Amino acid sequence: MLHHFLVRGALLLSAIKLLVAMETCPATGMPGMPGIPGLPGRDGRDGEKGQKGDPGQMRNGDIGFEKGSKGEPGLTGYPGKRGGSGESGEPGIPGPAGPPGEPGEAGTVGVQQKAAFSVARGTNEYPDKGSIIRFTSVITNINNDYNTTTGRFRCRIPGMYYFVFHASLNERLCVLLKLDNTLLTSFCDHRRIRKQVTSGGLAVHLEKDQEVWLETKDYRGMMGAQSAYSIFSGFLLHHR
Ligand SMILES: *[C@@H]1O[C@H](CO)[C@@H](O)[C@H](O)[C@H]1NC(C)=O
Repeated sequence: MLHHFLVRGALLLSAIKLLVAMETCPATGMPGMPGIPGLPGRDGRDGEKGQKGDPGQMRNGDIGFEKGSKGEPGLTGYPGKRGGSGESGEPGIPGPAGPPGEPGEAGTVGVQQKAAFSVARGTNEYPDKGSIIRFTSVITNINNDYNTTTGRFRCRIPGMYYFVFHASLNERLCVLLKLDNTLLTSFCDHRRIRKQVTSGGLAVHLEKDQEVWLETKDYRGMMGAQSAYSIFSGFLLHHR
């Protein structure tokens, strides 16, 4: 605005000067062209300081902060602790019977009940008069109950036993079956025929450690070679 006035003022001044020159010097020539407008002037000084404004609205302490809007629901919480056990239920119905089990191992009774021997004479020499007939060739001898050294069977399992002998003979023979020193019976063959056989058997109840054997008396013609064996056997019939 100020620039405008100054520019305008300058133009007016030069027009007046021109008119004055024309009056004082009439008809001397054509007026010249107007000059170029001057440069804009400098900025004016700062204005005065304005009046102080009204104070702002006071915050009312009694009302306090305004209540916010209701928030979103929170996340689901952790599961609670496990409760105490309930009371036991009623017993169920018995299940079906299982399949049969494996056969058991042989019991000690079955093992103990085994007692048997079969022994052969093993020689053609006659046994001595009035002596125990020893059978030294073993065919069967469980637990060595028959002692080939003494010629006696010793009872290990009390019970009923059966003893039997088969003899090949060349002469007369009498065989005594003895329990300890008690004569149970005698089997005698008095015929004087060569190459004959005789036999005898007896069931006897034995207590533990009682002994049974065969014995000669006067006639002792017993053979015992391969072609004419003499064999003494005994076995447990049943445990007591
Ligand atoms: C047979 O009897 C003899 C004499 O008593 C004894 O030394 C031996 O140990 C007995 N043998 C057995 C197998 O019992």
